[in-house]
Amino acid sequence: MPIPILIDCDPGHDDAIALLLAIASPEVDLLGVTTVGGNSGLANTTRNALQVLELAGRPDIAVAPGEAHPLSVPLLIQDHIHGASGLEGPDLPEPRTEALETHAVDFIVDKVAACDEPVTLIPTGPLTNIALLLRRHPGIAELLDRIVLMGGGMAESNVTPAAEFNIWADPQAADEVFSAGLDVTMVGLDVTHQALLGPDDIDRARGDSARVVAEFLDFFGHFHRDVYGLDASPIHDAVAVAHVIWPDLLEVDEFDVRIETESPLTRGRTVVDLNRVTGHEPNAIVALGIDGERFSRLLVERLYRLP
Ligand code: BDR
Ligand code: CA
Repeated sequence: MPIPILIDCDPGHDDAIALLLAIASPEVDLLGVTTVGGNSGLANTTRNALQVLELAGRPDIAVAPGEAHPLSVPLLIQDHIHGASGLEGPDLPEPRTEALETHAVDFIVDKVAACDEPVTLIPTGPLTNIALLLRRHPGIAELLDRIVLMGGGMAESNVTPAAEFNIWADPQAADEVFSAGLDVTMVGLDVTHQALLGPDDIDRARGDSARVVAEFLDFFGHFHRDVYGLDASPIHDAVAVAHVIWPDLLEVDEFDVRIETESPLTRGRTVVDLNRVTGHEPNAIVALGIDGERFSRLLVERLYRLP
């Protein structure tokens, strides 16, 4: 039986690749996609999700937009990384379908209630929609299997010296998700910075999806070359999906994780009690290590299965 999943995302090049990986993988059943303002504004992230589903030949998968703005801070989009549309680079197909009018939170509640199995939520953007879900429907926790989110880091950071973008973008939402008593796995920068893929790793002749992903990486790669000196890009969000598909891909352990919500210097920091000095019970499973070469190989193999 495939694992039922919902992806809450802000595509975004790596979100787009995460969606393609999920669609190409029989181990998971993508029940729907919800969108949030993050890498780009909500209208863009929603349209981008529809275009990716169209590209993959799965316009039947519904897209429900959620919140345009974080709970307690202004939205600061990442157009220096993802471009004006949030998904610059290749020409993408026009979506034949429209986004639902149902709000992401209501859509998740409906899908989770209708599913025979507990659902795994995979948030790959700011956690705004997920925090609202928990505020409005605290009982949803019993119907969820777990949350596997891309965000945070132990040592690594990107948007500030202290923080990773998804957590920094809505620290209040992240704090609410980490403190809700759910089964939360944090797939952070410490592992995603080892999960690299470059345009030359993909044979563009093996289908439209493979060509488009290579063109995504042509665009996305500029930022990672300029800032990190890398000749390939971390496919952050696809690592969270990959962990659900191949649980042994990541080395993980349980820790107490707190979110800094106030400090201007360290806002969005995921404070991981690695040495267990607080005496607090663990509230999250944290990704510690990854076989990055295996990740890239498996990801590319799956992309070749798509149209
Ligand atoms: C995360 O931030 C976004 O830019 C990416 O899509 C990813 O979800 C990495 O910090
Ligand atoms: Ca993302």
